[in-house]
Amino acid sequence: MIRLDEEIKKMEDEISQKLENANSLKELQDIRVEYLGKKGKITTLLKNLKNLPRDQKPIYGKKINELKDKLEKEIEKHRSRLEEIEENRRLEQERVDITLFGARRSIGHRHLVSMVMEEIEDIFISLGYEIAEGPEAETEHNNFDALNTPEWHPARDEHDTFYISRKDGILLRSHTSPVQIRTMLSKSPPIKIIAPGKVYRRDYDATHLPMFHQVEGLLVDRKVSVAHLKATLDFFAKKMFGPERKTKFVPSFFPFTEPSFEVYVSFGDGWLEILGAGMVDPNVFKAVGYDPEEWTGFAFGMGVERIAMLKYGIDDIRMFVRNDLRFVRQF
Ligand code: DAH
Repeated sequence: MIRLDEEIKKMEDEISQKLENANSLKELQDIRVEYLGKKGKITTLLKNLKNLPRDQKPIYGKKINELKDKLEKEIEKHRSRLEEIEENRRLEQERVDITLFGARRSIGHRHLVSMVMEEIEDIFISLGYEIAEGPEAETEHNNFDALNTPEWHPARDEHDTFYISRKDGILLRSHTSPVQIRTMLSKSPPIKIIAPGKVYRRDYDATHLPMFHQVEGLLVDRKVSVAHLKATLDFFAKKMFGPERKTKFVPSFFPFTEPSFEVYVSFGDGWLEILGAGMVDPNVFKAVGYDPEEWTGFAFGMGVERIAMLKYGIDDIRMFVRNDLRFVRQF
């Protein structure tokens, strides 16, 4: 029976070799099947016991069963070793470097008109102005009459203004100046406000949109003079376009101011008009119940798109509403 002894010995060596080399639970399972499965090597040895001489059977039966027990114990030992290895391997694979940048979403930015509007607001806020607002659907009274704008004025024509109801005198405001009226009706002087917002006119070409943005300004106090107006708007122009700029006040006409000016800013060799302004007309004060003998003031109004076009060299106002991202992203 030397050969069977050798075979058992060989199998024992072979098993411990294989177990040492096993690298995964799957390999361990394969080893179990190879030796202990239905057709496994140890199982076969046990089956063949019946061919041995009777006196050898218990001897080898014991030896083979010892080998089997040993293998089962060894498998359990290696199982915990391999479970640990596999756990580590899995953790390694699932490792996330939380210090890496994530996938970034492009979030865009505000439209140039909004940015310029805010820039204008910031300049006047730095001078102590407050922001005032009014509705885009206005009364004909606030938009025109209270602003000393007579019935015959061309702006009141149906071809120039969008009327919601001519009968009820409701329209889309054609400028932000009616916010002057609303503000003066709701509080008493001194007043220092700017009113940014949308305005509407029946216009559409390279320099006019049917909907655009304005910022209105109003200051009311005692003994306000043109000098205050000039200093304020000169300060604004230098902040907006650069400290080297000069301003020029050219006489003009607006129904709600007297005297009225068009204000120009120096651009290289020339001058460009940036806004309208003037001293509040006494008739406007009368319309809101202020005593024009006591109160004085100045007002101004500017187009936001126009300011943006001058500052950034844009030659067609329709670019603002074309939704061309190549344009929008430049600013
Ligand atoms: N409301 C005028 C317009 O839309 C702009 C303007 C001019 C406003 C002179 C003013 C002003 O307050 O004093 O063209």
